[in-house]
Amino acid sequence: MLAVMGAMEEEIALFREAMDDVDKNQKAGLTFYKGEIDNKKIILVHCGIGKVNAAICTQILIDDFGVDNIIFTGVAGALSANLNVLDVVVSTDCIQHDLNVGAFGYEAGTVPRLNKKEFAADDALVKLALKSAKNIENFPQIVSGRILSGDEFIADKQRALHLADKFSGHCVEMEGAAVAQASYLNDVSFVIIRAMSDKADGTADVDFPKFVQQAANNSLALVREMLKHL
Ligand code: ADE
Repeated sequence: MLAVMGAMEEEIALFREAMDDVDKNQKAGLTFYKGEIDNKKIILVHCGIGKVNAAICTQILIDDFGVDNIIFTGVAGALSANLNVLDVVVSTDCIQHDLNVGAFGYEAGTVPRLNKKEFAADDALVKLALKSAKNIENFPQIVSGRILSGDEFIADKQRALHLADKFSGHCVEMEGAAVAQASYLNDVSFVIIRAMSDKADGTADVDFPKFVQQAANNSLALVREMLKHL
């Protein structure tokens, strides 16, 4: 079973509108929409903001809904200078930039005892996302790269530069690495697809509601194209 996840309601609203035969389930304060898009069965959910919400939601998807493929779509702050607002990053892997147990000798980002820092996305899903974008007219620039996650909205240029340099991340958001770790622990495939909403530097040169709408439109088009091959 395939899950389509977002963090915020705005990020999944268009998917819900596109779904047929929806069956609603509630758990842990989350609403899971079971139904079809273009005759493909999916579970749609917005998990809330942050790594804890994302991890809880991912585990429920796996345990209660038999999910074995996860596509997470949403927005992120660009760290790479080559990325403009609306451009899309598809995760090669994810790191928790705010996880630091250096006092016990662990490299920053490493999950203690699990001894793991980078959680790799499913290569086939990454390739499918990149290929699918080519079939959509006027799709923005799309690249694959590392996504950094932490329970912090990054809005400072120096901090953004520091994170980019320390972890070689293309963009920063607040859920991907939690989905990634939960998926890894359960042997489930995932990909995180993020549209750039800002440059993580505190400047807001876009009309956010308008941007989210555009980004959500692009995400729906991309996932629909991917669904043809899933
Ligand atoms: N999501 C969108 N922009 C972000 C940022 N700058 N930091 C963290 N999460 C984000």
